[in-house]
Amino acid sequence: MSKQDAYSRLLARYESGRVPWGDDLPPPEIMELAENLSPGRALDLGCGYGRAAIYLAQRGWQAEGVDFISLAITKAIARAERVGVSELVKFHLGRVTDLSFLPESFDLVLDVGCMHTLGDADLVRYRDSVHRVLKPGGRYVLFAHLRDDDADVPGRGIYEKGVYELFNSQFTLENVCLGKTQVEDKPPWSSAWFWYRRD
Ligand SMILES: C[S@@+](CC[C@H](N)C(=O)[O-])C[C@H]1O[C@@H](n2cnc3c(N)ncnc32)[C@H](O)[C@@H]1O
Repeated sequence: MSKQDAYSRLLARYESGRVPWGDDLPPPEIMELAENLSPGRALDLGCGYGRAAIYLAQRGWQAEGVDFISLAITKAIARAERVGVSELVKFHLGRVTDLSFLPESFDLVLDVGCMHTLGDADLVRYRDSVHRVLKPGGRYVLFAHLRDDDADVPGRGIYEKGVYELFNSQFTLENVCLGKTQVEDKPPWSSAWFWYRRD
């Protein structure tokens, strides 16, 4: 399926109710990050049901989330209300490629599984938006589906070198952790966590 179909594919996923990232808790990497940082302002790109933003808000962060699926945003708002952090977390229906409605004030930008669905032109807009909203020295933490093959065909995921080409000129790479991810009963795919700091 091409990257242009990402919205339809994700909408169908949410409408089916089979959402593998539907847990209340974010991935352990995000929980560990929250243990090690003082609270500030965080932005979760492609926030889904808001598990990372809500987790951070529960630990004193002012958090915001953006997603282009309204079903996801509605549920994220309901979850935040249910756990009593509505005052600390805001969710926005929008695209991660246009963050012009947000101020340039974030200490931390997270992306757990969103950017790898973007096409080339959108990736540049996304990178520029992340750069604009992050304070100098702020952190950008990315979990992405990596492409393994060298085939020059449209597809899911991003090449590891594509991440470096996009970010390494304006952000400092502090750490990378390559791994495999398995969702439901499908074959595992290559994935990675990237920890960047805005120059
Ligand atoms: C794999 S899900 C992960 C959700 C969330 N980060 C989590 O870990 O629970 C990716 C999310 O990115 C959102 N997304 C993908 N492309 C987007 C775009 N261009 N603008 C806004 N949201 C997008 C999807 O709707 C989906 O909710």
